[in-house]
Amino acid sequence: MDEVRLAIIGAGGISQTHARAMELVKGARVTAVVDIIRSRAEALAEKLNAEHVYEDIDTALEAGGFDAVDICLPTYLHAPATVAAAKRGYHVLCEKPMAMTLDQADSMTAAARENNIVLMIAHCRRFDNYWGAFRKAILDGVIGRPVLWRSMAARLGPHQPWYLERDEGGGPLIDGAIHNYDFARAIFGEARTVYAAGQQFDLDNTAIDTGSTTVRFASGDVLVLSWSWAVPEKVTSSFQDVLGPEGVLYLSQPPHAPKPEEVPPNHGYLVVQRKGGTFDYIFYEKNDMYAAEIQAFVDAVREGRPSPLDPEDTKRSLAIATAVLESAATRRLISL
Ligand SMILES: NC(=O)c1ccc[n+]([C@@H]2O[C@H](COP(=O)([O-])OP(=O)(O)OC[C@H]3O[C@@H](n4cnc5c(N)ncnc54)[C@H](O)[C@@H]3O)[C@@H](O)[C@H]2O)c1
Repeated sequence: MDEVRLAIIGAGGISQTHARAMELVKGARVTAVVDIIRSRAEALAEKLNAEHVYEDIDTALEAGGFDAVDICLPTYLHAPATVAAAKRGYHVLCEKPMAMTLDQADSMTAAARENNIVLMIAHCRRFDNYWGAFRKAILDGVIGRPVLWRSMAARLGPHQPWYLERDEGGGPLIDGAIHNYDFARAIFGEARTVYAAGQQFDLDNTAIDTGSTTVRFASGDVLVLSWSWAVPEKVTSSFQDVLGPEGVLYLSQPPHAPKPEEVPPNHGYLVVQRKGGTFDYIFYEKNDMYAAEIQAFVDAVREGRPSPLDPEDTKRSLAIATAVLESAATRRLISL
């Protein structure tokens, strides 16, 4: 296939990011946009010079004029849209989290297998040089092993209400934190146990809006994560580092470390503090992870290769998220 024709399904927040990334993607163009809010679909189609606009997913899938779909819908719609597209033979790039439940994830994987299509869940960090530098530093043993990755984030949640409905978006412990569960697996391997505590600061939400979890991996590495989407407007607080037996890796410039004398153009850096308090820097070339992610999907479709991210593997990241929510609900340690 010379060129992959894409239909973007869901023209809300993340689709705008995908649309910008498409400027860098080779061998693909967007020919259709679908959204129940027609004006959104029309605006995005205009931006991308896409010929077709639809309000209804089944109508779009029936009409065709594309080879693959890019699903940018709220999470609870990922499974039905993926299954419907796969059954009609379209390849599927679907936003993360894969789904709300493991059964939904299984239905997506089965539909992809039965219809011989490429299904890739858009775990963007897997394609990002910043996160790649972090992974390499840990695997190279820069701070020794095992490590403790501490990841804390708090801000007011997204304004779209489905994000904080229990069965639609599930709140930050699944929607935001899936990035960390998935990337922790990319470094550490499989998780063994999960323990979580959930809180609700805003009782209008049905999902846990604030919570903390400890995920222990078979490797002995541990992820401690805490995330809130229910602090007041304009309040933000975040913190990330990794502790190891031979030092600390900072994922951004810590206030107590000197800045590097020179940073090469278009590069970022991670900071390492070693025994004796000395600081080192790890430089990486910045890239557009969304363009790299879409390019990987497009190349697999064009070249008839398997999904760059095996959906069975991606399901294991979702299994951490569902275990975290179960642990928060039952107050029990969950084994995976
Ligand atoms: N990878 C990332 O960094 C990242 C960032 C943000 C969001 N996301 C994920 O992307 C997905 C979408 O998030 P968002 O912020 O763009 O959501 P959104 O609510 O802004 O956009 C969803 C769009 O889908 C449309 N829609 C809803 N139901 C529909 C239906 N039945 N048929 C057609 N259109 C329908 C809505 O009108 C809306 O325009 C979520 O799963 C989210 O977790 C990923």
